[in-house]
Amino acid sequence: PPGADARGLHIVITAGPTREPLDPVRYLSNHSSGKMGYALAASAVRRGARVTLISGPVSLPIPDGVERIDVETALEMHDAARRLAADSDIFIGCAAVADYRAAARAEHKIKKRKGEQGMTLKLVKNPDIIADIASRRGPADRRPLVVGFAAETRDLELYARDKLIRKQLDMIVANDVSNAGLGFGSDDNAALLLWRDEEGEGSENLPPQTKSRLAEAIIERALYCLGVRPTQ
Ligand code: C5P
Repeated sequence: PPGADARGLHIVITAGPTREPLDPVRYLSNHSSGKMGYALAASAVRRGARVTLISGPVSLPIPDGVERIDVETALEMHDAARRLAADSDIFIGCAAVADYRAAARAEHKIKKRKGEQGMTLKLVKNPDIIADIASRRGPADRRPLVVGFAAETRDLELYARDKLIRKQLDMIVANDVSNAGLGFGSDDNAALLLWRDEEGEGSENLPPQTKSRLAEAIIERALYCLGVRPTQ
């Protein structure tokens, strides 16, 4: 395809939700079809990159040419990300990681208690995977170009810019999830890209389009931020 050549580059992408078990039959999770992350993986392969997809439970086929590592929990995703990040050129955090997990996973199914109308679950915070990868400092602790996502229902640019800076990302893909018919589970999405590189800060508004075309634009911009220029 036209555009930048990603041959020789390793791109690691997290995708889908994580699943945090409460007991043997229940879990906490997020809405995430994984479609955006899988579209990014397919797009990066088309550019010639070696692609590893760290995927939470989704019902999508593995895109051709992609190596997939299946994980369930945020801690498992974090382990895989840490292991792979040192060997990657671009790290894209597209997963909807659960912010919290159960403080303790019950060994047996939690039973309803007679006469009690409520129950309290004790949760503990999960690690911020992308912020951890982005805080690496090379060369021993090699740091890839880090691209994050921000799903917001209001003040899109404000919150996205805050995440870009706070998590020390190089680029962020901001989605307005209050937009009916776009985003979650849908085949289409729109996004605002914000980035920072040696040339300074930049932004690009990507209008509603298929996640596949959106993925092309995101990969293209990430490669540009990495210094890879289109060949034609
Ligand atoms: O803070 P928030 O969850 O909105 O940030 C979203 C971005 O951070 C996404 O790129 C997501 O994959 C990443 N993230 C992560 N680990 C977490 C929470 C979010 O990598 N525990």
